[in-house]
Amino acid sequence: MSATLEMETVVPSQAPLGAEIQGVDISADVDHATVQRIKAALHKYKVIVLRDQHLTPEQQIAFCARIGTLEPHVLPQYLVPGYKDLVRISNVLDQASQPIGMIDAGRLWHTDGHFQQRPNMYSMLYALEIPHDDAGEPLGATLFVSTAVAYEGLSPEMKQRIAGLKAVNSLAGVYEMLKRNNAASLRAPLTEAQKREVIHPVVRTHPFTGEKCIYVGKGATIRILGLPEEESRQLIDELSDWCVRDEMVYRHRWQVGDLLMWDNSGSQHFAVGDYALPQRRMMHRTTVAGSVPF
Ligand code: OGA
Ligand code: MN
Repeated sequence: MSATLEMETVVPSQAPLGAEIQGVDISADVDHATVQRIKAALHKYKVIVLRDQHLTPEQQIAFCARIGTLEPHVLPQYLVPGYKDLVRISNVLDQASQPIGMIDAGRLWHTDGHFQQRPNMYSMLYALEIPHDDAGEPLGATLFVSTAVAYEGLSPEMKQRIAGLKAVNSLAGVYEMLKRNNAASLRAPLTEAQKREVIHPVVRTHPFTGEKCIYVGKGATIRILGLPEEESRQLIDELSDWCVRDEMVYRHRWQVGDLLMWDNSGSQHFAVGDYALPQRRMMHRTTVAGSVPF
């Protein structure tokens, strides 16, 4: 019987979160123990990258299904044709000049599915095409912060103040903010169902590590329950700004073949929109379903 003796290597980034996992080929059979170690790294580092992967849609979907339960995307118009769980994130236009995928995904600090009763557990982006500047440097980076590290750094007074608070969240809030930033012009209007409001704790407990994580965002979080409007807005802004301070950021500089995964229970991310056609960006995204935050 042959056995693989080599284990993968985990290389943490210089930032407060983020790591690269080397020595795993996702297109091959990945054994159960390796899947468990990848998940443990994801919980610890909140965002992990596996470089130089060569994945068909089926292989990405199959791997994602081993990490958890696949979730179809809330905006079905952006699916890769023929796949109900695979979304295109892309600035590429079709012959009628319509976007073939989500053209403006993540152009504000956010966490995926914040506006759902059961927010996304993990998101997985596979890079097929990456824009570059004239010097060959990659454009369209994705920035990440750990909301667990951000919570830990709060003053005891602030921890006390926000303990037990709950907030109202909605995708409509995200759209409002994108509109204010002139970033949502190409999106179809939301349906009433997509505008639904959900209540989540302001501090959530990570379902696997038990860490406390700040769970508000300037877009999705509309108001904190039990506070006067102005105080609510001010607290949302203060907590959001605290999470995304420069020194907290892991900047993912994309390469074609990157499979990037992030843990939505303990992080926020932001897509840098510093590129345009003819520079093309094309990603395939899969999502793992989550549970009700507590
Ligand atoms: C997402 C997202 C960021 C990016 O897919 O949820 O925010 O850089 N993407 O494409
Ligand atoms: Mn996102």
